[in-house]
Amino acid sequence: MRAPQLSLIFASVSALLVAACANEEMPQASDGQALFMQNCAVCHGGDAKGAGPMAGAMSTPPPDLTLIAVRNNGAFPKAQVLSSIDGYAKSDMTGPNMPEFGALLEGDLVPYDSGDGILTPTPRKLVALSQYLESIQAAR
Ligand code: HEC
Repeated sequence: MRAPQLSLIFASVSALLVAACANEEMPQASDGQALFMQNCAVCHGGDAKGAGPMAGAMSTPPPDLTLIAVRNNGAFPKAQVLSSIDGYAKSDMTGPNMPEFGALLEGDLVPYDSGDGILTPTPRKLVALSQYLESIQAAR
């Protein structure tokens, strides 16, 4: 009786480990949400709708990021969004309350298909932000 019980325990422990690793592999929308709050909410707002504390000071108002898909005929343009975020990461915007965007390129790369069917090594934090934005798109 004892042996089968043990193997059952082993089986469930390894299932848990596999789940934990799978989780570790790809960034989730929730990882992106934290990054969004740190780097983007000053302009785009905590709800991403464009009313962050710095929004009023901008000549071009920050767009509502929950409507990207709606503006794009219902499809979330992953590659375009990634390249916007990449642009921030490579920019050298500085000023009071400005986030340090360069940190978005730090960390490991994960294979990410931004819509062309090819898995491209992409900075984990950029993917996390893109996943988050995709997760908050409003339906029409
Ligand atoms: C200094 C204010 C500011 C910060 C900080 C900021 N943005 Fe923006 N963002 C803007 C403005 C203004 C625009 C519209 C003009 C443009 O596209 O440059 C914009 C445009 C965008 C777009 C394009 C929207 C579309 O409809 O195609 C995306 C995506 C975006 N931002 C994501 C982010 C993310 C993610 C972050 C954090 C890493 C971020 N932004 C941080 C001001 C900001």
